[in-house]
Amino acid sequence: MNKQIDIYEVGPRDGFQNLRTYIPLEEKLKIIDDLVASGIKHIQITSFVSPKAIPQMKDAAEVARICLEKYKNVDFFALVPNLRGAQTAWEVGIRKISYVVSLSASHNKANINRTHEESCEELRKIMERYPELYVCIDLATAFGCPFEGKVPAEAVAAFMKDYVALGVHEFNLCDTIGVANPRQVREVIHVVRAAYPDLTLQVHIHDTRNMGMVNTLAAIEAGVDRIQSTLGGLGGCPFAPGASGNLATEDIVYMLNDMGYDTGINFDELLAASRREKETITDGVFSGHHMNIQNKMAE
Ligand code: COA
Ligand code: ZN
Repeated sequence: MNKQIDIYEVGPRDGFQNLRTYIPLEEKLKIIDDLVASGIKHIQITSFVSPKAIPQMKDAAEVARICLEKYKNVDFFALVPNLRGAQTAWEVGIRKISYVVSLSASHNKANINRTHEESCEELRKIMERYPELYVCIDLATAFGCPFEGKVPAEAVAAFMKDYVALGVHEFNLCDTIGVANPRQVREVIHVVRAAYPDLTLQVHIHDTRNMGMVNTLAAIEAGVDRIQSTLGGLGGCPFAPGASGNLATEDIVYMLNDMGYDTGINFDELLAASRREKETITDGVFSGHHMNIQNKMAE
């Protein structure tokens, strides 16, 4: 059996959140339909955040309700920054959240207006109020921050301690602005694994410097089997200067399928989906490579 790698598509949140022009609900749903049709099983469909902070996500409840009703065998999850968001998410039926906190205190403040202590205390309240809500920590700026630079791998592990103590089992190490390198990725994963051997890890790597693929591959070779990416490489972070496109789902799926990993995803359908998305979204930054390739290798 080939090793399975699970793709966690986060475009409907991390990609869409940067776009000023509102994408009509039907268009969002069509993109999610395309993703499901290509075989993707894990999709971050929206975020329950302040519409003042991210106007694009004002339809979070509708998106979630419709998707949860329509697809029963897809793992839909949503980003949540606070108790209020967790409450709305829970009420519409979401049972899995990405709770976002930044390793860098200044990015945490810029992004969600919280100190580290406040973020941790807020999660404690969420977990107390919703004990059946599954929480994955989105650890933003884990490999470097636009305001504070890089921190040693040991600091990443140390930061996670309070969240592990709360009972969190899964962490998504995010290179929010795309400054990691493969050696650093290996080191952070090694140090985190050594400190917490039982945790489940994901990576979320932005492709700012064309290092999305190598950094993600470094994570896979270090043992991570849950990879975040966005269709077309659409992405960025509105509160992190310099953050640009994500790793494109079709690019990583192409590579993994070609290497013999089992992703369960149909590349041709995925590529068609990313091209359709690009036609729909005209003001996005797409870092995907395959969507521009015209030639097809002889079979
Ligand atoms: N969903 C909807 N509205 C929310 C909300 C949520 N989860 N949390 C807060 N709000 C509303 C409040 O009701 C309030 O509205 P009002 O001004 O009409 O009274 C307003 O947002 C501000 O609330 P407050 O609690 O003072 O929050 P804040 O100003 O300190 O901002 C966040 C904190 C987390 C709500 C806000 O920074 C945010 O949503 N950030 C999102 C960041 C993000 O998504 N970044 C990209 C992904 S990493
Ligand atoms: Zn991101």
